Amino acid sequence: MKIILLGSPGAGKGTHCKRIVEKYGVAHLSSGDILRRERLDGTELGKKAQDFMDAGELVPDDIVIEMMLGAIKKSGPAGYILDGFPRTVIQADRLDNALSRAGEKIDIVLNLRITDEVVVSRITGRRSCPKCGAVYHIENLKPKQEGICDYDGSQLIQRPDDKPEVVTRRLEAYREQTVAVVGYYERTHTVYHIDANEPLENIIADVFGKLDSLVASQTCGSD
Ligand code: AP5
Repeated sequence: MKIILLGSPGAGKGTHCKRIVEKYGVAHLSSGDILRRERLDGTELGKKAQDFMDAGELVPDDIVIEMMLGAIKKSGPAGYILDGFPRTVIQADRLDNALSRAGEKIDIVLNLRITDEVVVSRITGRRSCPKCGAVYHIENLKPKQEGICDYDGSQLIQRPDDKPEVVTRRLEAYREQTVAVVGYYERTHTVYHIDANEPLENIIADVFGKLDSLVASQTCGSD
């Protein structure tokens, strides 16, 4: 299965991806996580990205496109879920061209819709694992042991770009550059919209229902 998950900063992309990956075995290709890993490793790519990320701006298209097309090439046969990519119409177009050259296509585009007020409360309470990217919330999604990642025992952190002024800029960048990507996919693919203001369990039930029916239709098609 090849899935794109769209949604504004703090809409819940990383949170839902974890569950989708656990259930369907697809690779989680998060542009934000890969960029943070490159920064942690001190690579040239990480150094190029850091000032943009810290300011809440998008990293230039060419850098991200090359990085994500490389990650897609390395992903296994079970497919993948793209989280945070594409984020501009140029990125979406380059992805589509690369996939069609390889004789492949995206099976479904999921779009998380959320209000800015809910985003702000979610982002302020978010805690993340710097090692595996797992995401928690101080009220809605607590780790088993306070401040510690359930998966690998790392100390949880608050992301540096979660400062209020940077969150405001990230939301502006979303409106200026990423909302158009939803329109792009509405013209070329079926987009399944999800109300991300809802509690976690409602959203995941909705998403699993949709993906289960997609898997069933793919299985029927291959019989
Ligand atoms: P990235 O890491 O992609 O950040 P983002 O899109 O801003 O998204 P977030 O990670 O902040 O939020 P999320 O939607 O994953 O929400 P989460 O699941 O954590 O990008 C960071 C930066 O990298 C960008 O600003 C840019 O500079 C650069 N970048 C990345 N990709 C790029 C690209 N393609 N092009 C250019 N630049 C790029 O949930 C948030 C919180 O809410 C959590 O605490 C969670 O537990 C909680 N929560 C989630 N859902 C619910 C719910 N339903 N009920 C209650 N709590 C919930």
